[in-house]
Amino acid sequence: MKLGLFVAERGHHIAAWRDPATELERDVGFSYYANLAAIAERGCLDFLFNADIGGPSGPYSAERLRRTTGASRVEPLTLLAAMSSVTRHIGLIATMSTTYCEPFHIARFFAGLDQLSGGRVGWNVVTTYSEGEARNFGREIHLSHDERYERAKEFTEVVLGLWDCWEDGAILADRESGIFLDPAKLHPLDHRGDHFSVRGPLTVGRSAQGQPVLVQAGQSEVGRDFAARTAEVIFTVQQDLDEAKEFYADVQNRAASHGRPPNAIRIMPGLVPVVWATMAEAEEKYDKLQSLIHPDLGISLLSHILGFDLSGYPVDGPLPDMPPSNAQQGRQKLVADLARRENMTLRQLYMKVGGVRAHLTLCGTPDYIADVMEEWVATGAADGFNILPPTLPQGLEDFVDHVVPVLQRRGLFRTVYDGTTLRDHLELPVPVSKWATGH
Ligand SMILES: Cc1cc2nc3c(=O)[nH]c(=O)nc-3n(C[C@H](O)[C@H](O)[C@H](O)COP(=O)(O)O)c2cc1C
Repeated sequence: MKLGLFVAERGHHIAAWRDPATELERDVGFSYYANLAAIAERGCLDFLFNADIGGPSGPYSAERLRRTTGASRVEPLTLLAAMSSVTRHIGLIATMSTTYCEPFHIARFFAGLDQLSGGRVGWNVVTTYSEGEARNFGREIHLSHDERYERAKEFTEVVLGLWDCWEDGAILADRESGIFLDPAKLHPLDHRGDHFSVRGPLTVGRSAQGQPVLVQAGQSEVGRDFAARTAEVIFTVQQDLDEAKEFYADVQNRAASHGRPPNAIRIMPGLVPVVWATMAEAEEKYDKLQSLIHPDLGISLLSHILGFDLSGYPVDGPLPDMPPSNAQQGRQKLVADLARRENMTLRQLYMKVGGVRAHLTLCGTPDYIADVMEEWVATGAADGFNILPPTLPQGLEDFVDHVVPVLQRRGLFRTVYDGTTLRDHLELPVPVSKWATGH
């Protein structure tokens, strides 16, 4: 089973900071994150993942800015570079946007950190759902959903092409002859496309794992196809075992139709573990967190997830009809389907999906949580999970010290790191440069 830690400022539950167990005195600075990284590495987790949004999340964000910790956050690659210096094994996955960056930047930043960290880096390719980001980057409006994916496709080809410029053995370092580099093993890219023109080659060589790992999280039609074509890890949001199996099979089939070998992708739904010694106490702990969500915040969260302003609608009324979102289409569908299927009011809906952004939430004993995780992996719904502790650091310690040992006793998870790179942990092959294979 693969397990990653999705890092968040003070826990993934939207109201975690109001819980008296959350320490507010300490800044979310270097020592705060170093402590989280150390706990995750103690649990032998595959990676730390840090998400990114470079602006207020769309037009419905006022209440969320006022009532949550989300207004200030450290840029992920900077954070993970710092974490690479205090960790030895764990992988480091950061988000960077294909809509608001240039491919040469991303290829270079990630390849550089991959080299510095000994091959532990992954790039979470996002097209950016937050409409608020546009105005920080010289645009009045966000590109449309499908245009963003169009650009992302070419963007990712360029980044992969840049990483591919280097063959193994390009560095000769031959003191005798005075030749350091073999130019026959370093190739230009010469890319000219609709969006980008990039000559190359990249100014950073291959790392211990060849190239950074590619991660994606699309759930819409176009998003799934993009992920199936390029990603090596897919993050997803799933509440229901059958729907997760359908997603898993669909993505693997699409990957095969793009000519990818079987087992080329690790699919990792988000999981919020609320761990306690008894089922009742775990439920109680979660209810307490839930009760801290103010209704105005709940409605703002739902509007954000659905990409539709719900502030004028009665909180105890049903979900109205909505146009398709220009933000996250997959998550809009998941949440709207749930509301209609279970006939929920807006209040019930935000209580169900708002607190942890619609991710699967399991409240219970370590054995119960391990049972569900085992079932999802054994039945073809997941290869592992992206863990979103509801509170930090407590929720992470609960998971690492109580659930991980159960998985280890069952032989489902490693007890020591047996590799050094992120590709080793995820059992992903080292990509060979197309120049070396002659393709
Ligand atoms: C675990 C996870 C992490 C994500 N991290 C980010 C992120 O850091 N920045 C971002 O803009 N979108 C992030 N997303 C959103 C996805 O990139 C994508 O926009 C979303 O899944 C909707 O895709 P769709 O429109 O194809 O359904 C994340 C999604 C998931 C499931």
